[in-house]
Amino acid sequence: MKILVLIGSLSKTSINRSVYEAYRKVVGDQASFEEGRFDDFPLYNDDILEVGTPVPVERLGRQIGQADAVIFFTPEYNYSVPGGLKNALDWISRLKPQPFAGKPGAIIGSSPGKVGTARMQYHLRQIGVFLDLYFMNKPEVMISGAKSLLDEKGELVDEATLEHLKKHFAKFAEFTAKLA
Ligand SMILES: Cc1cc2nc3c(=O)[nH]c(=O)nc-3n(C[C@H](O)[C@H](O)[C@H](O)COP(=O)(O)O)c2cc1C
Repeated sequence: MKILVLIGSLSKTSINRSVYEAYRKVVGDQASFEEGRFDDFPLYNDDILEVGTPVPVERLGRQIGQADAVIFFTPEYNYSVPGGLKNALDWISRLKPQPFAGKPGAIIGSSPGKVGTARMQYHLRQIGVFLDLYFMNKPEVMISGAKSLLDEKGELVDEATLEHLKKHFAKFAEFTAKLA
């Protein structure tokens, strides 16, 4: 199973990146992971598209198209999807054929606060409707108080959370197989 990963935070010290690293570890060799970058995308503008699709957008579109499934590891910004990720999704939404269409998807969100990205996750699901991306409903992964779950090196060490990630992958693998 080939999973394309989109990380909504551009920070090197991102909690969400740490959770992605932990997810990779618990999944081990049951799947392969590839990260899709979008930090080199221009801000979306129709005028740019008129000249042609930017190379980085085409690159990510290809990566999505070649993947069996997509997982978003992302924070919540101002109760919604971080701007950089939203910009990437706006660009990808213009591609034909639509690479997200019919793909299985999952959302894993972490925040230091109490709500664990819940508000962002429902916005992202709404965007997924337009993209025809099939998000798995359950189990949801909304990791709150996330800073306290990491060790001093920034690695996710909380056993209960690691167990939840393991269960998430088991369900997501089943979900992906059903859609194949
Ligand atoms: C612009 C901005 C908006 C934020 N809005 C929220 C928010 O709505 N809800 C929340 O729980 N945390 C919010 N935060 C705090 C982030 O959850 C926190 O910075 C988190 O560490 C970001 O994820 P990362 O570590 O993966 O980069 C916000 C942070 C920034 C920079």
